[in-house]
Amino acid sequence: MKKQLLGLATLICALTASTQITAQQLQADNIDEIIQSMTLDEKVHLLVGTGMPGVAIGMPVIGATRSLVPGAAGTTYPIPRLGIPAIVLSDGPAGLRIDPKRDFYSKTYYCTWFPIGTCLSSSWNTNLVQMVGKAIGEEVRDYGADVLLAPANNIHRNPLCGRNFEYYSEDPLLSGNIAAAYILGIQSNGVGTSLKHFAFNNQETNRMGNDARVSQRAAREIYLKGFEIAVKKAQPWTVMSSYNKINGTYTAECYDLLTTILRDEWGFKGAVMTDWFGGKNRSAGVMAGNDMIQPGLPFDPDSIKAGLTDGRITMEALNRNVRHVLDLIVKTPRFKKQSYSSDPDLKAHAKVTREAATEGITLLKNDNATLPFGKRIKNVAVYGSTSYDILAGGSGSGSVNTSYTVSLIEGLRNNGYTSDTAILESYRKFINDFKREQSKKQTSWFSTPAHADEFVPVADSLTLQAQRCDAAIITIGRNAGEGSDRKAELFYLNDNERKLITDITAAFHKEGKQVVVLLNIDGVIETASWKDIPDAILLPWQCGQEGGNSMADVISGNRYPSGKLPMTFPIELDDHYSSKNFVKDAPSVRPTIGQKESGEQRNLIDYTNYEEGIYVGYRYFDSFKKNVSYPFGYGMSYTTFEYSEPSVKMNGNTIEVSVSVTNTGKAVGKEIAEVYVTAPKGKIDKPAQELKAFAKTRELKPGESETLSMTIHPIDLASFNENQSAWILDAGKYTFKVGASSRDIKGVTTVKLNGMKQKVHNVLKPVEKLNTLVCRP
Ligand code: BGC
Repeated sequence: MKKQLLGLATLICALTASTQITAQQLQADNIDEIIQSMTLDEKVHLLVGTGMPGVAIGMPVIGATRSLVPGAAGTTYPIPRLGIPAIVLSDGPAGLRIDPKRDFYSKTYYCTWFPIGTCLSSSWNTNLVQMVGKAIGEEVRDYGADVLLAPANNIHRNPLCGRNFEYYSEDPLLSGNIAAAYILGIQSNGVGTSLKHFAFNNQETNRMGNDARVSQRAAREIYLKGFEIAVKKAQPWTVMSSYNKINGTYTAECYDLLTTILRDEWGFKGAVMTDWFGGKNRSAGVMAGNDMIQPGLPFDPDSIKAGLTDGRITMEALNRNVRHVLDLIVKTPRFKKQSYSSDPDLKAHAKVTREAATEGITLLKNDNATLPFGKRIKNVAVYGSTSYDILAGGSGSGSVNTSYTVSLIEGLRNNGYTSDTAILESYRKFINDFKREQSKKQTSWFSTPAHADEFVPVADSLTLQAQRCDAAIITIGRNAGEGSDRKAELFYLNDNERKLITDITAAFHKEGKQVVVLLNIDGVIETASWKDIPDAILLPWQCGQEGGNSMADVISGNRYPSGKLPMTFPIELDDHYSSKNFVKDAPSVRPTIGQKESGEQRNLIDYTNYEEGIYVGYRYFDSFKKNVSYPFGYGMSYTTFEYSEPSVKMNGNTIEVSVSVTNTGKAVGKEIAEVYVTAPKGKIDKPAQELKAFAKTRELKPGESETLSMTIHPIDLASFNENQSAWILDAGKYTFKVGASSRDIKGVTTVKLNGMKQKVHNVLKPVEKLNTLVCRP
């Protein structure tokens, strides 16, 4: 008995001692106490990522976190003593980007490559984008990542931006709504997103040193609006600050942007992280509300400590940022110790991407009902190297390690067509030779994989090819990726591509056969000079790993195109006012850590004057009455639609727009109705019209109708008045135009609105004088 009592006493003593030495563990509801019990070192480390494999050598815990999800872009700093796990941050916009293979394991970890952002936004279908987001989020969850570094939501300011493919549109309303849907889809899986690149990352040239000089009005109305919509509608778990500066200050160090606007005005509740190696002055970053530095480097914790010592960083700001990071961590699967399968349903997701891509595919031209091929066509002459070697998406962090891609040839076969084997054989040789040459070249993270240039196959004469085949498809390919902008020359077709289109069309037309041009491209190209030549032009963009199937589904008529352009196709590149101030063909990036500046890089202009102000995309072309090749919001269908007269009325505090759309043709289809608003002449210079709402019908059979109802808040019709730092809606008669594109208005009605004013902070003032364009001087 005595012995037993002694044993019990020893056990009690041991338990008490262990509770004394075990620190409190992080819970969702004890963050304040945890912050109090953290050492300064722990706090500082939590604000700095654990480095990136192969880059940040010497970080204390790098080995422990690197192996969580190999190939992920970064992790947060774990503090096991307090039960704080490392969480995994992984790219990217078109699907989860991780290493597909792991040392010593035969299992593979491939992900689904979904359509690029631009293809998704071309669907104008927020439900569809949410569904894609849900599927991507399932892969994030099932492979054990916590936050997806997406969506990328910068405005297409100019066609040459190398990352436009990841972005959605030249219009902030469309961009913001697509981004919100994407975030809601991903986050429905209990994993997070990182809305990026906040903000003004509209070019890649010198992206780490460039200063975006933007008027307050253009900042608010164009470049921030899409982020505002996404934050308010979807509350992303995190936001990623961009590399560039805004009016002289790095965005990662800009309190006005990251705290005043993002948190105080928009109500953002999550954490902010830098883009990888972004920002410079760590003290300024911490104070600005850039909570976390990613991927983190050996010297960052020390520089934060130095900032605390010399008073540039306050303990209050440090604790605030630590709280934001802990708030994020407690939401994650890893904190909740959720198990994961490493076995997402890739088959189901392949179906999602195949189907989703078809909705983004945009029909630009279709003379004499060339498309769909249906059963009329059997044997197709397929030209263009990207018909065989498809571009599923762009490069860099926007790419995905997928186990396969479906070429157009394969997609056509899956839809019951044969393709000419002699032509195929000449492409096989051509592409193989090209790839052999490419494999000898040195590549880096920043090299955009090239695809074979075009040639006119000389298997036999084009006449014979045209006689053997029922129709021709010519694919034009373009690729891009982060770190550099698109070359101006790539906006235009090269001589080989022109020859391909001209010669093949001539040969096929001679035989009474039709020619389709397919655009497997990352961004806008020139179309005006050649679009009259072929019979049909189909724009699938880069539409994911199932691209060949998606394209052929639409070509055959098993599916139908219902996309519309989320940006304008200008006649010439320089027609964009922004081309005046877009650094063309410059060396791509300033050297990052450890690299030496080359002479060329040193001479790079490191600012961009956004002199076009709010006149971006159609706002410019429509206000200044410029001809375009294809207008914003344009896209054809295999059927036709009729619009009823629109009705616009006030419903309490909101404006309700409704219109009935009827399928008047012979095929099924979906239609997108776009609402443009023209303001009454007031004191402020306004664009001719602006997109203020849009909606897409369900699938309509011939003869079927659907009434689309759209809601607009009057304050969303306001303009930003720089003198008063306020959104101001002038009272008066507003014109609501419902159209099938910005230049195809089907019905117009007017509504009288009362004036309104919403004051915001007077921030982000340009430092340099800007010569900003006005339409009504
Ligand atoms: C890109 C980000 C990306 C990050 C991590 C950066 O180079 O700009 O978009 O999320 O790398 O890979």
